[in-house]
Amino acid sequence: MAAEEFESVHELTGGDFTNAGRASTAVKNILKRLGISAAVVRRVAIASYEAEMNVVMYAAVGRMRLRVSPSDVTLEVVDTGPGIENVSLAMQEGYSTATQEMREMGFGAGMGLPNIKRNADEFVINSEVGRGTRLFIRVKQVA
Ligand SMILES: Nc1ncnc2c1ncn2[C@@H]1O[C@H](COP(=O)(O)OP(=O)(O)OP(=O)(O)O)[C@@H](O)[C@H]1O
Ligand SMILES: [Mg+2]
Repeated sequence: MAAEEFESVHELTGGDFTNAGRASTAVKNILKRLGISAAVVRRVAIASYEAEMNVVMYAAVGRMRLRVSPSDVTLEVVDTGPGIENVSLAMQEGYSTATQEMREMGFGAGMGLPNIKRNADEFVINSEVGRGTRLFIRVKQVA
């Protein structure tokens, strides 16, 4: 369990597939450097990667905020974008609105949001059509 408190902010840009993955890589490296357990790093890394890719694929701009406390690691991912019309549908495994082009890049299995939920101890998703989406993800460091 890390004794430190840590916070960082990572900017995300919709459509920028060249830099996609950088924020979640940075988050992963920070957690490793802070000495967070491999199991927690793995769960946060999966959630941050899926959240980052969703902003790149579907939103205009976004921001990922990482917070580390002795008890848990949280991510808040807020974007400005089209939002999600039916969140419970979007949460279903296999549901995806990915384009043919995105599918050719290996995305669009419709597994991102379900994977985030599976790896989180707490997961909150709020979305407003025409405005954007906010995810809150908590992974506990202590049982
Ligand atoms: N930030 C977002 N803004 C707008 N729509 C989103 C956002 N995140 C997810 N969605 C919508 O929810 C659907 C499901 O997302 P999810 O991450 O589960 O699957 P996917 O991104 O389509 O495929 P995968 O993550 O497996 O590559 C997306 O296809 C999209 O329609
Ligand atoms: Mg996804």
